[in-house]
Amino acid sequence: MHLVTSEVLDLREVAPDHWVTTFDAPEIAAAARPGQFVMVRAGPDWDPLLPRAFSIYHADIEAGCVEILYRVVGRGTRQLATLEPGRFATMWGPLGRPFDLPETERVILVAGGVGVPPVVFLAERLAQAPMRLLGLVGASSRKFLVGVEHLRRAGAEVRLATDDGSLGHHGLVTDLLAAALQEPGQATIYACGPQPMLVKTARTALAAGVSCQLALEAPMACGVGACLGCTVPRAGGSFARVCCEGPVFAAQEIDWEAWERGSI
Ligand SMILES: Cc1cc2nc3c(=O)[nH]c(=O)nc-3n(C[C@H](O)[C@H](O)[C@H](O)COP(=O)(O)OP(=O)(O)OC[C@H]3O[C@@H](n4cnc5c(N)ncnc54)[C@H](O)[C@@H]3O)c2cc1C
Ligand code: FES
Repeated sequence: MHLVTSEVLDLREVAPDHWVTTFDAPEIAAAARPGQFVMVRAGPDWDPLLPRAFSIYHADIEAGCVEILYRVVGRGTRQLATLEPGRFATMWGPLGRPFDLPETERVILVAGGVGVPPVVFLAERLAQAPMRLLGLVGASSRKFLVGVEHLRRAGAEVRLATDDGSLGHHGLVTDLLAAALQEPGQATIYACGPQPMLVKTARTALAAGVSCQLALEAPMACGVGACLGCTVPRAGGSFARVCCEGPVFAAQEIDWEAWERGSI
């Protein structure tokens, strides 16, 4: 894990209220693996006190930079989206357990909303591997579909779903997953997105007996295992810290019913 003061190299709005920030962070770029995240504090002072967690979207080892993609939802992300090139943020990472690489020849990537970064990073790392990549991307509306071109550039076939029917399948991205699992070839599923999407994805994979890894999100204060703010219920009892034992979990490791109920 590296703690660095990173210069912002680029800031761009890729959809309404959705931003990509590129940081100069060679140590983190070199160590990063798909599924891992960074903690970022945007301001020069301690306001807000707590850093914010973001999945790594791209890590360019040669250029020494790391990108995050985020939706502005509150103070921390708003502050980040005003950090122009030339300014600095404090960042530590890469953190957490990454995705295990697939052993099947078919890979299904499922992303909802701003859950797309870790699956794009994984697709980029698998781009040269001899496997078929299928990206299933969902959003509330077409204007919020992000990361799609990156998946295509990595060689993935992409199928889209929007809640309002403005592009692709009119409905949930998990509807596309059920259909994709009917197609031939043993697959591994990788998913990141909102909680209901992850719960549905995990249940679909478990029912079909298909290997599935999911990158979870939980409120995080420290990001390094100390505060227990990010716990999720494990299957069979006890709990796991999303920042340390996760954020990536196999579908069978989590008690999805308890997580859905909000109990740990
Ligand atoms: C491992 C991990 C990876 C993440 N990766 C990304 C990413 O790649 N892109 C991205 O946009 N966001 C990501 N998030 C979520 C991101 O950390 C939060 O959106 C951010 O902390 C919000 O900070 P804020 O100060 O802007 O909002 P706050 O003022 O802290 O909160 C604003 C609203 O957002 C809700 N909220 C805050 N954090 C979360 C969360 N983790 N899940 C659901 N709702 C939340 C709050 O309940 C509140 O309603 C990730 C979170 C984790 C734990
Ligand atoms: S965020 Fe503190 S233990 Fe996970």
